[in-house]
Amino acid sequence: MPVTTQQLTQWKQQGRPIVALTAWDYTIAQLLDISGVDLVLVGDSLAVILGYETTLPITLEEMIHHAKAVRRGVKNALVVVDLPFLTYQESMSQAMHSAGRVLKETGAQAVKLEGGYPAMVETIVHLVQSGIPVLGHVGLTPQSIHQLGLRQQGKTREEGDRIFNEAIALEKAGVFAIVLEHIPAHLALQITQKLRIPTIGIGAGYDCDGQVLVTSDILGLSEKHPPFAKVYTNLRETIGKAVQDYAVEVRERQFPK
Ligand code: KIV
Repeated sequence: MPVTTQQLTQWKQQGRPIVALTAWDYTIAQLLDISGVDLVLVGDSLAVILGYETTLPITLEEMIHHAKAVRRGVKNALVVVDLPFLTYQESMSQAMHSAGRVLKETGAQAVKLEGGYPAMVETIVHLVQSGIPVLGHVGLTPQSIHQLGLRQQGKTREEGDRIFNEAIALEKAGVFAIVLEHIPAHLALQITQKLRIPTIGIGAGYDCDGQVLVTSDILGLSEKHPPFAKVYTNLRETIGKAVQDYAVEVRERQFPK
């Protein structure tokens, strides 16, 4: 049975952790789905896979193109797509238009938006009331890299209180879950205990209701990966070796035989 947004909350109540990973194409999405991943995120970290330095340049068209391929590869997991930078912050109607396009054109079930400040909360209320499921995202929000850098957020009392209050406001606005990125574990625990909806952590300790990582990081494909990502295999090395072996065999006329 395909995973639903309501099921994530039931899993929180049952203490069953949510497994989430990012995907960027059909093949990776299919592998994640077959391997039992609950939530597949077409994250705007896709920008890095496409060779951009940050997530800022990626466009809605690029996200939709990749999300369509991901959706074709997924049968069971919940598919969520990031709205890219400046495709939802300008106005409520811009957010409606972008989120509507994502759902209609890709077949994904939900969108993710960064931020929990008052104007964003208002936008999320509007999206949710219009029938668009939203995954929230607070803490380190990479679309604000030029304001926040990539440092851990919520280290001071003031910052921690702000993130805590944003998470509460997002729950009230109707998000079905919240990504907590790169915040201290004790703050993630406090938020997780306070909310009815699940928290999905990335660099936020093990007390969240689920975890998400960037798949190219866990596969060892990324050139740089954040300190909180565990590398489960080294595909850069494996692929490099396979390509070199092939090149040698072609040059020495050993392939094809
Ligand atoms: O774009 C992304 O990869 C994300 C992370 C939270 C996984 O948003």
